[in-house]
Amino acid sequence: MPLVNSKELFEKAYKGGYAIGAFNCNNMEIVQAITEAAKECNSPVILQVSAGARKYAKQGYLKHLVEAAVEDTGLPIVLHLDHGADFEICKECIDGGFTSVMIDCSSKPFEENIAITRKVVEYAHDTSKHPYVTVEAELGTLAGIEDDVKVEHGAESYTRPEDVEEFVKRTGCDSLAIAIGTSHGAYKFKPEQCTRDPKTGVLLPPPLRFDILEEVSKRLPGFPIVLHGSSSVNQEYVKIINENGGKLVDAVGVPEDQLRKAAKLAVCKINIDSDLRLALTAGIREVMNQHPEKFDPREYLKPAREYVKQLVKHKIVDVLGSNDKI
Ligand code: G3H
Ligand code: 13P
Ligand code: ZN
Repeated sequence: MPLVNSKELFEKAYKGGYAIGAFNCNNMEIVQAITEAAKECNSPVILQVSAGARKYAKQGYLKHLVEAAVEDTGLPIVLHLDHGADFEICKECIDGGFTSVMIDCSSKPFEENIAITRKVVEYAHDTSKHPYVTVEAELGTLAGIEDDVKVEHGAESYTRPEDVEEFVKRTGCDSLAIAIGTSHGAYKFKPEQCTRDPKTGVLLPPPLRFDILEEVSKRLPGFPIVLHGSSSVNQEYVKIINENGGKLVDAVGVPEDQLRKAAKLAVCKINIDSDLRLALTAGIREVMNQHPEKFDPREYLKPAREYVKQLVKHKIVDVLGSNDKI
């Protein structure tokens, strides 16, 4: 089976009340961990590449790694550009064989966001040059840092439901990322926004704005919604990291039960990157700290890859609900 776009996957996910995991990949171990987990769970999966990942690994290497994963697993896999900042990067990815792109002009004025998104959609949907490529766009801004799209905490803004119909109609995008209180990275909420669990000392974040999600989906019936910034910052990995020389203080994510609820509603794609980074780092730190004599990268990357794989299996089964959907 070749790489697929997200259209059919989202149609099935919407009807079935589950979401597809969109996991960021930067190297071979991460690609293998995600796709082996998906294979064991019989789940479709989206592998996404950010601008930073393209700079780090080069687009061609990542594309061929993902194609190797398709060959190895036989799964329906989407190769997606995460947070494309302009038309040019989206075009390069489409020309390079990506099956899905995100154009993220969410921090630009509404009319400019529409104009650039429309231009990307026209190119992506023109099947005279390449197969149909699905386009994700964004309305509302999330705090956090990606390489080319940066929003400071405090400057984020929720999606305005009254804008979504016009935006989708005028751009022709295939899915829409909205801002309902998630944010990028491992520090999603400031301690003062949270309460603290008296027993464990762990921060408990405020709830997501499900009222906005519900209003958006009322206005866009059947239309796939995307959630970025959806790592949960699982505390077991934070603990391993901190016990093995790391220093992550008050790292906090989106509770998994809230993501499960979103996946049952109109959310068809849930983006997870930071959680993979934490699992991989936990595995590497553990070996490095407990076996300072080791220096063969395979000896620390193998258990780290296994941590990422177990994490992705947990996400697929307990959070996304996309297991056994092939
Ligand atoms: O949403 C952003 C992803 O976590 C990608 O992060 O730009 O550091 O690769 P990156
Ligand atoms: P996290 O930082 O929560 O993993 O978000 C990832 C993301 O949204 C990638 O686009
Ligand atoms: Zn994102």
